Amino acid sequence: MLKVDNLHVTVENREILKGVNLDISPKKFHVVMGPNGSGKSTLALTIAGHPKYQVTKGEILLEGENITALSPDERTRRGILLAFQNPHEVEGVRIIDFLRQVLTELKGMDPAEAYDLIREKAMELWFKEEDVHRYINVGFSGGERKRLELLQALLIKPRVLILDEPDSGVDVDSLSIISRKIDELHSNGTAILLITHYGRILQHLDPNSLEVHVMKEGRIVLERGGDFVREIEEKGFQAIFEECGCNE
Ligand SMILES: Nc1ncnc2c1ncn2[C@@H]1O[C@H](COP(=O)(O)OP(=O)(O)OP(=O)(O)O)[C@@H](O)[C@H]1O
Ligand SMILES: [Mg+2]
Repeated sequence: MLKVDNLHVTVENREILKGVNLDISPKKFHVVMGPNGSGKSTLALTIAGHPKYQVTKGEILLEGENITALSPDERTRRGILLAFQNPHEVEGVRIIDFLRQVLTELKGMDPAEAYDLIREKAMELWFKEEDVHRYINVGFSGGERKRLELLQALLIKPRVLILDEPDSGVDVDSLSIISRKIDELHSNGTAILLITHYGRILQHLDPNSLEVHVMKEGRIVLERGGDFVREIEEKGFQAIFEECGCNE
């Protein structure tokens, strides 16, 4: 579905990604792990088309189409959605208005039908009815922002969903609902690339469906099955990098 081929990315004249190769299929549940600063968010933002991240070499293919030069908007229209690690406040834009516009434009939905669906899905994610009339992320807590990112995903049902630490700063009950909803999207055919530091969000998933990609200094250096998450949590990245000779 999504293929990243020898991707080199520069930010502010500094090379952050140094040849990333990644193959994302909807059959597997793809997890990206790696130390702080290894380039996980950079990879996510580059796939989403953030203008600050300059691709100097390599390409991003969506079902064979080279999308490396497309705008973020064109990528969204083709079905790529990024749930941000740090969702920003958008003063003056109400959640309901934004999402209704997305659904009518992207999915050709009737505005009244869209309104009902947004309310229904928002409540499934434990928002109160009045919350959808608030400005995007303004005054929302860290965990609420993560749920709001997921609300967009549940409504859009993207072909490829990239989730950048949807579990950070989230309480245990919210984590459980977030995890179930991500699994629901995956079961319905969305290809998932989930960036995380912890195995907890994966605990409801079949370990055989997981593929773990480990990043180190701008490259993917290890690709293993689901059991690897526990090994990472037990040993830590440095010991694992020593063992695999990845430090050489
Ligand atoms: N806009 C930017 N300007 C300068 N440096 C940047 C920028 N974006 C990323 N970097 C640098 O690129 C490196 C990779 O950052 P990135 O956010 O991709 O790491 P990460 O793997 O997501 O880390 P974390 O686990 O802490 O979220 C870091 O050293 C970071 O400081
Ligand atoms: Mg990050």
